Amino acid sequence: MEKVLRIQNVPVTKLAEEYGTPLYVYDENAIRQKLKDYKSLFTSELFDTEVLYASKAFCIKEMVKLVNEYGLSLDVVSGGEIYTALAAGFDPDRMYFNGNNKSVPEMDYAISSKVKTFFVDNIMEARYLVERMKNEDHQLHIILRVNPGVDAHTHKFIVTANVDSKFGIAIGLKDEIAQLIRLFDESENIVFDGFQAHIGSQIFDKNAFVAEIKTMTKFMYELQTEYGIQAKTLDLGGGFAAVYTEEDTPIPLPVVCDTIISTCQAMKEKYNLPLERVMIEPGRSIVAEAGSTLYTVGFQKTTLHKKYVFVDGGMSDNIRPALYEAKYSCDIANRMDEDKTEKVCVAGKLCESGDILVQQAMLPKCEPGDLLITYTTGAYGFTMSSHYNRIGRPAVVFVKDGQSRLVVKRDTYEDLIKQDL
Ligand SMILES: Cc1ncc(COP(=O)(O)O)c(C=O)c1O
Repeated sequence: MEKVLRIQNVPVTKLAEEYGTPLYVYDENAIRQKLKDYKSLFTSELFDTEVLYASKAFCIKEMVKLVNEYGLSLDVVSGGEIYTALAAGFDPDRMYFNGNNKSVPEMDYAISSKVKTFFVDNIMEARYLVERMKNEDHQLHIILRVNPGVDAHTHKFIVTANVDSKFGIAIGLKDEIAQLIRLFDESENIVFDGFQAHIGSQIFDKNAFVAEIKTMTKFMYELQTEYGIQAKTLDLGGGFAAVYTEEDTPIPLPVVCDTIISTCQAMKEKYNLPLERVMIEPGRSIVAEAGSTLYTVGFQKTTLHKKYVFVDGGMSDNIRPALYEAKYSCDIANRMDEDKTEKVCVAGKLCESGDILVQQAMLPKCEPGDLLITYTTGAYGFTMSSHYNRIGRPAVVFVKDGQSRLVVKRDTYEDLIKQDL
């Protein structure tokens, strides 16, 4: 094994020298491959298909441009994500505005920017949009977010009667849903397209998606027979898993796409549904594994029970371990050929005891100045980063075919105070 890890044939030591640390490094070809795979695998002869990249996973202009290049659509959840996408030249016709509490200025901004479709989350939002669109001379497409009571936040999934989710309207409330759809149908500038559901993240069991589809299509059938409602679009949300540690074994993409498509086809036929379009919204699975974070090792400390290796970043660039005990794997990237003899805890430099990046890692003996890499940090790392302790956000680089390029600059001290008055 080579001593120094390479990403897309670029030695990480070179990246650290050129751009500094901490540094988010993305393998651009890995992102491209995922976008290409989703686009080619998620297809059907019975209905149209659409893959929306959930931009919350990693939303910067260069990423949006890649999504555009491969012809995927975009799931956006804030005025800021819409602004980023528009700045990257993304067509608002392929943007879908999601969220349970879109503010009035955000909705106005989306409407005036001609964002074509809103995922409507609740009755108050629906009523606002019906009123708001009366003054417009274009049409707004609406997909209603519902809560199917299928929960898949871990390796297991459960079918619940959970009606208390913050997101969507519970599918049991058929009268309310039917009333809303009638309201949409009576509104000249609103086109009701269908339903959206999202059952969780890091889903490892394909049967969770099968349960979601069966529940949703039965619900659509009941609305059709009991209320005469025809829904042409079904959006199944995101949640496709990524590999963080060796414990993670996601469903291979061809299998998950095939499962979703074949189950939708079977249910469309079973219930004779007028289903014309099926959509999914992957975020994490497109960018997580393509991204890594490079840190410089600083001091080390041995306590009664632990040996700590401290690095020059932490929860400000990766909040996930502190937020929900997310697990990562890591290496000393300039000692890849050395035996892993030390059991250590990798901790950040932020003033929080919970600022631990990897609770238990086997690493070779390392020294200040070595480079530590955490893998699979490409999703919800940069987008959840903060200025806690007035630490600047790291730079982001894309590497491809032996070349690197800076796509987001590192914050300077000036950047940290630029909004202070
Ligand atoms: C509605 C919706 N769609 C898509 C996603 C993306 O999920 P993932 O990144 O797990 O694919 C999320 C994540 O929270 C979501 O809430």
